[in-house]
Amino acid sequence: MAKSLFVCQSCGAEHRKWMGQCPDCNGWNSITEQVIDGVAAKAAGKGRVLNTSSITDISSEHCPRRSTLIEEFDRVLGGGLVQGSAVLIGGDPGIGKSTLLLQAASKLAGAGTVLYITGEESVQQVNLRGQRIGAMHQSLQLASACELESMLATIDKVRPSAVIIDSIQTTVSNRLTSAPGTVSQVRDCSAALIQHAKKCGHALILVGHVTKDGALAGPRVLEHMVDAVIYFEGDRGHAHRILRAVKNRFGPAGEIGVFEMTDAGLIGIRDASRMFLAERARDVPGSVVLACMEGTRPLLVEVQALIAPTVYATPKRSAVGVDGGRVAMLTAVLERRVGLPLSQHDVYINIAGGARIAEPAVDLAVLLAMLSAFQERPVPAEVAVFGEVGLTGEVRPVGQPEARAREAANLGFSRILLPKENHERVQKADIIANMRADAQIPIALIPV
Ligand code: TYD
Ligand code: MG
Repeated sequence: MAKSLFVCQSCGAEHRKWMGQCPDCNGWNSITEQVIDGVAAKAAGKGRVLNTSSITDISSEHCPRRSTLIEEFDRVLGGGLVQGSAVLIGGDPGIGKSTLLLQAASKLAGAGTVLYITGEESVQQVNLRGQRIGAMHQSLQLASACELESMLATIDKVRPSAVIIDSIQTTVSNRLTSAPGTVSQVRDCSAALIQHAKKCGHALILVGHVTKDGALAGPRVLEHMVDAVIYFEGDRGHAHRILRAVKNRFGPAGEIGVFEMTDAGLIGIRDASRMFLAERARDVPGSVVLACMEGTRPLLVEVQALIAPTVYATPKRSAVGVDGGRVAMLTAVLERRVGLPLSQHDVYINIAGGARIAEPAVDLAVLLAMLSAFQERPVPAEVAVFGEVGLTGEVRPVGQPEARAREAANLGFSRILLPKENHERVQKADIIANMRADAQIPIALIPV
């Protein structure tokens, strides 16, 4: 077994054994194991001169993409899997990572051998699931293993065009003594797998577990090592799942793919707006349709608000699907700028259907939903809304107003309420002849 050293990740101090607290910097849980490679240490000396090439002379044709034949997955990847690249997919347990990757693997197998190594299930279990969802292909090779060294040897023998490791937290290197899933194991195993993928040219997909607060478990550096980081999100109570690229070296980040979990596995949903608005109640107070952007894709969702007199000393503010801080800010804006006595009311905000909206364009919709709930006056059903709201109550322009308006028009909305500065661009884009863009902002105008 190789010799190891224990290095503090925050101050860099080296120790002979593992400790919970670093004696040098007093940091907790910052010491990780590192293997000392005796040969590498001795070979230090003058480096060789690197070959440099002009940026204009390098062709990008040597990174061909392979389509997964799952349209929503391809979109998130930026057009398909790039050979030699590493993709990390994270998500809550049971959200459908293994299901999606098995489906993708069987499709990819049509164009070359795919190796699916699982450390969480037996090959029989994977086979059963494959049969059920119709993800079967002769060239899809399964293996159930946890040791990194056996995986690398198998990859060398099988020479696949794509490798899927489910999951990186169950993978262990026998060079390290630490338990599976620890920082050093995850880092070293992924580094070895990624290096191997770059050398052999196969695409690598790693499945990563997430911690309780939704971040990828393991070292932060893992996200830097891979070419793309994709999160698989969703609510167990809802059938839809959202695949979201948070980092992508080969395509736009922020792109999403929408799926529905069915008995036959995951099915891509092209028309996501229709799904999110399917159960919308028309002409009820506190419901507003927001035209938001998810990556390059416009999406219409319903923002709901409920305002009720409080029975608590401090009124309740609750937000599901949108940042609680934003809701608190918008509540304060309504209170100060419009004069709603919200300090004696509980405020609940919900994005229907379990979607999560992180962009500022949600502000105007939240604000109108609150106003509508408070006044018990419905916002007309044919109105879609977007816009950012500042602390002085001003409505600010947001990006890509044309795409938002077009999606709203496509879904039959005939009026759109938007920031003044976005009005001209939407009009110029000639979205729909009879669509009215209401650039007048009603905050100050609606009597309370
Ligand atoms: P899975 O892919 O095992 O999740 P992960 O790998 O992210 O932990 O998904 C398992 C869940 O999906 C499980 O709760 C059952 C459900 N499921 C279906 O509803 N339909 C299906 O066809 C399959 C395969 C799974
Ligand atoms: Mg799984």
